[in-house]
Amino acid sequence: MIRDSYIKTVIEPFKIKTVEPIKFTNAEERKRILHEAGYNTFLIDAENVLIDLLTDSGTSAMSSKQWAGLLDGDESYAGSKSYHRMHDVVSKITGMKHIIPTHQGRAAEKILFSIVGGEGKVVPNNTHFDTTRANVEFSGALAIDCLNEQGKHPEVIADFKGNMDIARLEEVIQQYGTDRIPLVMITVTNNSGGGQPVSMENIRQTRAVCDKYGLPLFMDACRFAENAYFIKTREQGYADKTPLEIAQEMFSYVDGLTMSAKKDALVNIGGFLAMNDDDLALQCRNLLIVTEGFPTYGGLAGRDLEAIAQGLEEILEEDYLQYRIKSTEYLGRKLDELGVPILMPPGGHAIYLDAKRFLPHIPQEQFPAQSITCALYLDGGIRVVEIGSVMFGRTENGKFIAPDLELVRLAIPRRVYTQSHIDYVIEVVKHVHDRREELKGMRLTYEAPMLRHFTARFAYVD
Ligand code: F0G
Repeated sequence: MIRDSYIKTVIEPFKIKTVEPIKFTNAEERKRILHEAGYNTFLIDAENVLIDLLTDSGTSAMSSKQWAGLLDGDESYAGSKSYHRMHDVVSKITGMKHIIPTHQGRAAEKILFSIVGGEGKVVPNNTHFDTTRANVEFSGALAIDCLNEQGKHPEVIADFKGNMDIARLEEVIQQYGTDRIPLVMITVTNNSGGGQPVSMENIRQTRAVCDKYGLPLFMDACRFAENAYFIKTREQGYADKTPLEIAQEMFSYVDGLTMSAKKDALVNIGGFLAMNDDDLALQCRNLLIVTEGFPTYGGLAGRDLEAIAQGLEEILEEDYLQYRIKSTEYLGRKLDELGVPILMPPGGHAIYLDAKRFLPHIPQEQFPAQSITCALYLDGGIRVVEIGSVMFGRTENGKFIAPDLELVRLAIPRRVYTQSHIDYVIEVVKHVHDRREELKGMRLTYEAPMLRHFTARFAYVD
């Protein structure tokens, strides 16, 4: 990194070679579009979105080297050169013995939990992402979150709010017994918990508990590079290490991992499953052949593997990571200064509005985070995602059970938007916050039995 000490501005460490126009709509049009979409922003056509902060997944801008790699992709069915390139890069970073490509993260989860999950099994995690939970539960197993106490309070400022609650993890292991727990998972950064990082110390402690009870530890590694950069800047002893060295240490404590390359591999599609255990890898590959494809492509084209390999090299560049974490923080700090309640401190890939404090007049069973999500689209054509009672709330015996956190996530696609886009977002969020008392609660008019947030439809409560 070459930067003169008198320069404070963190700039995008790239210049723009290709552009894609975005379409402006007026308030009248957006009102109609949102109504037709059943007040669910997942159901809006992307064309009608001005700034799309729905997800940081698969939305990255690829580099010129990644695009060049697409031409170089080897499309052989078996043993392609691109597989070997991807294999070697993943192996360098993770040290894993078996690397199994999949078409995205949830495919890796599906294969893993089809084999180790099942009726009566229990999987602890700091916080399961929704697809991870769904795949654990779909196998018949129970998914248990063991998030540390600080992570449950959006206003608390702490360095590693994504950490596993180690005491709670031990409690769960003792309560259910090691026979019922096929593995422990740790998600870095903790997406559903606010994009908050997990410390190396916490990964080490989780490993120690797993060793004590003889349990394997797997990492949900989607945002491993962002997590590594937080460790570098926040945890003692890591300031002089490179992101690669930190990532290597993180992976040295685990027995396997699931990865969505759509995040920290800077590609639009892809993922992988990696592990050290030969037997488990054999079972995973056998299932992969049935569901994804031959083990050297796993549902991906050779060119996709090429782009993943290149993206994994680029994601660990320190200039990139500094820009990534600082630019997300810029959005968070500005909103905080304007008095907008956000989950603090800012996360790695997203800023999360705290809907409970934003809309104290709307109870959680009336989906306050969904109401903010709709308002951001109506007022500025911005698409964000609800991570609250729609995604994680449930009704048991007629009683509504609310999740701890009621959040609206503004996820920042990698290398896509510039600072003026983000300044526009700040202006729109402020506008919605200024008129927050006008916002109304919502009710469901349709919900699917699983992952209901993707297809639910809503109406405003009078
Ligand atoms: N694990 C985590 C922590 C994730 O954030 C995601 C995806 C997955 C697993 C599944 O990966 O999408 O490739 O199948 N998160 C996206 C998001 C969808 O918007 O946060 P996938």
